[in-house]
Amino acid sequence: MLIENCQVIQLPKFLDPRGNLSFLETNNHIPFEIKRTYLIYDVPGGETRGGHAFKEQKEFIVALSGSFDVVVKNEKGEKAVFSLNRSYLGLYIPNGLWRHMENFSTNAVCLVTTSTLYDANDYIRDFDAFSTHSF
Ligand code: TYD
Repeated sequence: MLIENCQVIQLPKFLDPRGNLSFLETNNHIPFEIKRTYLIYDVPGGETRGGHAFKEQKEFIVALSGSFDVVVKNEKGEKAVFSLNRSYLGLYIPNGLWRHMENFSTNAVCLVTTSTLYDANDYIRDFDAFSTHSF
């Protein structure tokens, strides 16, 4: 899978003196039907999350608060780093790419919306297995 298939997507933004508002709709602002949303938060300094690929799952990752880096690799080990630090920006990652999150700021909150329900069998947790898997 091509890393170029990852895409930073800007969500609609309603600027308002009462506080700003952004939103995302299934199959509209993100290119899949949302089945699940999960949060990563209270990450201790220096920790990483992720470190696997998905056979089927597509996902969209937003730094709701604070900042972190999403490191995406293809099967050859070529990588791209996406720094997320705005509530209205998200990273779309198709299935078939390896990714982990690192460099979390204090109080960072990571929102992940996904195209599948949780399925442990959809994970590839070994990089060698990932690099030889045909997607
Ligand atoms: P995991 O995706 O392995 O986290 P990371 O890749 O950052 O290490 O998830 C950690 C645990 O949480 C794992 O035991 C399964 C559970 N989990 C669910 O039950 N549902 C979910 O939607 C997710 C994302 C994880």
